[in-house]
Amino acid sequence: MCGIIGYIGSDNATPYIIEGLKRLEYRGYDSAGVAVCDGENFTVVKQKGRIANLEEELKNHPVNGTVGIGHTRWATHGEPSDLNSHPHLGKQSKIAVVHNGIIENYKELRAKLSRRGIECVTETDSEVVAQLMEYYYKGDLIEAVIKTVNQLEGSYALGIMCKDEPDKIIAVKKENPLIIGGFDGSGFIASDVPAVLKHTRTIYHLNDKEIATVTRHGVSFQNINREVVSKWPETIEWSFDSAEKGGYEHFMLKEIHEQPKVVKETIGSLMNGMNKDVLDKLCEKTASFNKIIITACGTACYSGSVVKYIFEKICRMPVEVVLASEFRYSDPIVDEKTLVILISQSGETADTIAAMREAKARGAVTFSIVNAVGSTIAKETHYNIYTAAGPEIAVASTKAFSTQLISLYIFCIRFAKSLGKINDSEEQDYYSEISAIPDKITSIIENSDVIKQYAAKCFNSKSIFFIGRNIDYAISMEGSLKLKELAYIHSEAYAGGELKHGTIALIEENTTVVAIGCCKRLFSKTWSNVEQVITRGAKVLYIQCEGGEATESEHVSVANVPDINELFSPSLSVIQLQLFAYYIAANKGCDIDKPRNLAKSVTVE
Ligand code: G6P
Repeated sequence: MCGIIGYIGSDNATPYIIEGLKRLEYRGYDSAGVAVCDGENFTVVKQKGRIANLEEELKNHPVNGTVGIGHTRWATHGEPSDLNSHPHLGKQSKIAVVHNGIIENYKELRAKLSRRGIECVTETDSEVVAQLMEYYYKGDLIEAVIKTVNQLEGSYALGIMCKDEPDKIIAVKKENPLIIGGFDGSGFIASDVPAVLKHTRTIYHLNDKEIATVTRHGVSFQNINREVVSKWPETIEWSFDSAEKGGYEHFMLKEIHEQPKVVKETIGSLMNGMNKDVLDKLCEKTASFNKIIITACGTACYSGSVVKYIFEKICRMPVEVVLASEFRYSDPIVDEKTLVILISQSGETADTIAAMREAKARGAVTFSIVNAVGSTIAKETHYNIYTAAGPEIAVASTKAFSTQLISLYIFCIRFAKSLGKINDSEEQDYYSEISAIPDKITSIIENSDVIKQYAAKCFNSKSIFFIGRNIDYAISMEGSLKLKELAYIHSEAYAGGELKHGTIALIEENTTVVAIGCCKRLFSKTWSNVEQVITRGAKVLYIQCEGGEATESEHVSVANVPDINELFSPSLSVIQLQLFAYYIAANKGCDIDKPRNLAKSVTVE
C-alpha cells in the first residue's frame, strides 16, 4: 500500500526517484508524485494514474535538484487525484512529506491545526503530517519530526525533506516498512529493496520509531528520545536481474518460469544453512505443542490451507487455518502449547503482523515463513525461516506461494520425524518426492499448450467454478483467487461434494468448471461431481496426475501434471492454475502485473 522513495546525492534526483517508483508500483498505482529540492526550493509534480503519467509530465517539465522524495499511491483517504497525491507540503511549503500507512487520528489533528489557522487542502490523512511538522519546525527538523510522530496514531513510513535543511532526508516509521540504502556519496530511503537494488545492496532496516538522517556522507540513527542508535547494514543477495522482466512480457510469466529454480533453492536452504538451524531448534520443541494455527492473508493463507491436510495426515496434530484479518478479533484459543505459523511474502502485511502480535501476547510460540529479508514478521517471530523466492514483483503471487508450500512440506516432515510419527525410510521417501518437484514444474511449464488453448476458448466466461476434494479442494481456492485477481472473472472454489448443496444451481449451459483431480484415491468421487456439472451443460477442464482416469470428451479437456504423491500434488496443479489465470487475463487484455484495485503489500488493516 503506497511506495515511498528518497534520493540524496550529487546527481539529479528525479531519474533515481522515477526508477525507484517504477519498482515500487506494485504497492499501489492510483497516483504518483515527486518533490525535488534544488538547495533552496521544492518543486512538486504530482499526477493521477500510473507512474508513466508522472514520467511523461516530468519529460515536459523537467525538475532538477540533488535531493528528492517520491511516492506511488494506493488510495485510502481521498479519491485518486492530482491534489490528493503525495508529496504533501506544509502551509508555507517548507516541509515535504511522503507517507505510507494510515493516520487514524487525522480528523482530530486536522481540527487541531485548524484551530491554529492551518487548513488542510487535500482529503488525505497524510497531509496532517506535513502541516504538523511545519507547525512545529523552529529550526530543528528532528525536533519537529519527534513532536509530530508523538501525536500520530496509526501506522506510517515517512520520508521528509525540509528546504531550510536541504542536505538531508529524514525517515521514520511505525508498522510500515522502510529501508535505508547506499552510501558512496549517495543515500536512499525506500519502502522495499527492489527500489534501490540497481544502486546498492547495502541496506539498513529501520525499526519502529527509529529516526534515520540520511545525508550524502552517510546515515545516522536515533530513537524518539534523541539517543543514538547503532545499526549494522545487511548485504542483500538478490541480484538486480531478479527484479527485471528479463525478456518476458510480464513479471508474472517470468515469475512462473522461475519456480523450478526458486523451489530448488528453497529446498537447499532448508536442508543446509540458517533455515535448517532454525528448523532444528524448533523441532526440539515439537512435543510441547498440542495444536498448530496457521494464519496469513490471500495466497499465503492458501499455502496453509494446503498444508493443513499434510500436517494432519502425517503428524496427526490438529491444524487450524485462520485468515489473519479474522484471527485478531476472534478471541483465539491460543496458549503456550500452540504453535502459530505466520506465512507472508512481504513480511509486512498489516493483518498478519497484528495476528502475530496477538498470538505472542497470548503466549503462543510463533514461527514465520517469510520472503522479504529483515521484514517485521521475520524479525518479531520467535522462529523464522526465509523462502528463496527472490523479489516477487507481479502483484499476484506465484513463486512466493510455491516456495511457501515447499517450506511447509519440509517443516511438516521434520515435525513428524521429531514426534516419532514417521521413520527414517518414510522421511527419505518424502524427501525424494519433494526433490523431484522442480523438474516436474519445469515439465508443466514446457508443456503448457493445453492450458493456453483452453484459456483461449473460455476467456469470455462470466463465471468460472473450481472444484476438488481434499487437498485438491485446498489448491482450487488458490486457482480461483488467481483468476479473480488477474482476469476479473467471478469465480468460486467449491469442495466437489458440497456443490450439490447449493452452488450447482449456478451451473448452466457452457459454464466453465475447472476440476482438480490429483488425489487418485478420490477419482470416482470427484468424477461423479464432474458428471453432475456436465449433465447441466458445463464444460470441464480436468487437471490430473499422469495415469489418471479422466478421459477427453466433447465436454472434458484434460491437462496432466507429472505423477506425484498426492500430498505434494498442489505444487504441480497450482502451476496449471497459475498458467490458466495468466492466459485468460492475457486473452482479455488485462493489466496482468498490476490488477485493478489491488496492491502487493497490504500494510493497512
Ligand atoms: C495481497 C496480495 C496477495 C498476497 C497477500 C498477502 O493481498 O495482493 O498476492 O497473497 O497480500 O501478502 P503477503 O506479503 O503477506 O504474503
